[in-house]
Amino acid sequence: MRDLIVAGNWKMNGNRQFIDEMMSGLNKAIFSESVKVVVCPPSVYLLDVSQKAKTVKVGAQNMYFEDGGAFTGELSPSMLIDVGCSYVVVGHSERREIFAEEDVLVAKKVSAAVRHCLTPILCVGESLEHRNSGQFFDVIARQVKIGLSLLNAENFADVVVAYEPIWAIGTGQTASPAQAQEVHELIRKVITELAGENVSERISILYGGSVNAASAQELFSQPDIDGGLVGGASLKIDEFIAICSAAA
Ligand code: G3P
Repeated sequence: MRDLIVAGNWKMNGNRQFIDEMMSGLNKAIFSESVKVVVCPPSVYLLDVSQKAKTVKVGAQNMYFEDGGAFTGELSPSMLIDVGCSYVVVGHSERREIFAEEDVLVAKKVSAAVRHCLTPILCVGESLEHRNSGQFFDVIARQVKIGLSLLNAENFADVVVAYEPIWAIGTGQTASPAQAQEVHELIRKVITELAGENVSERISILYGGSVNAASAQELFSQPDIDGGLVGGASLKIDEFIAICSAAA
């Protein structure tokens, strides 16, 4: 049985008042026990959110793969655990596009997270150009293969994969359930080829890209979609709670 997960990626948004309001609302919400709810605040607020969280898990939006040293501005896996994280988003398309994160660096972060018993949420996804040219399968298969390449096959199930088509992020243009399911099925097939079905059937694969309360139900009902990685809608308490309920 795979974990059903809904993670809210707050990106570079929020302040201490927002966190007080959001965490108060999340602590009052009744979530299905079948769904793991995760919030990923900006790193400066991780400890505050962890100390306030009663039912949701906490994730970071990024981390470095070394566990200490001369890496100005970076966060180590141990620091994330120290402030209460159990998840960490790795290889988000904004890190790849804006901060030039390459697949190999992402792989090192996935491996370091697993070594430190953090659950990495490995983000993969194609550009509109690759979608329109029909090359998206090759792009995503490469990102998955390299992203998992530093792990032993039996550890693949310690990873959560998030498919986030870049053209759907922040655009309001959600992938259709069929488009998302097609790619999720590919991702699971790639993992089956690498590690066998008993591993690939245990990996949660989330969809991200303009998920909202209206689209969540049909997306999450797809056989290979195990929840969502939610951006903008996770900043609205009622909508995020509705999305989490749709995953149950
Ligand atoms: O990591 C989730 C994010 O990239 C999706 O953003 O605003 O399209 O839900 P959004």
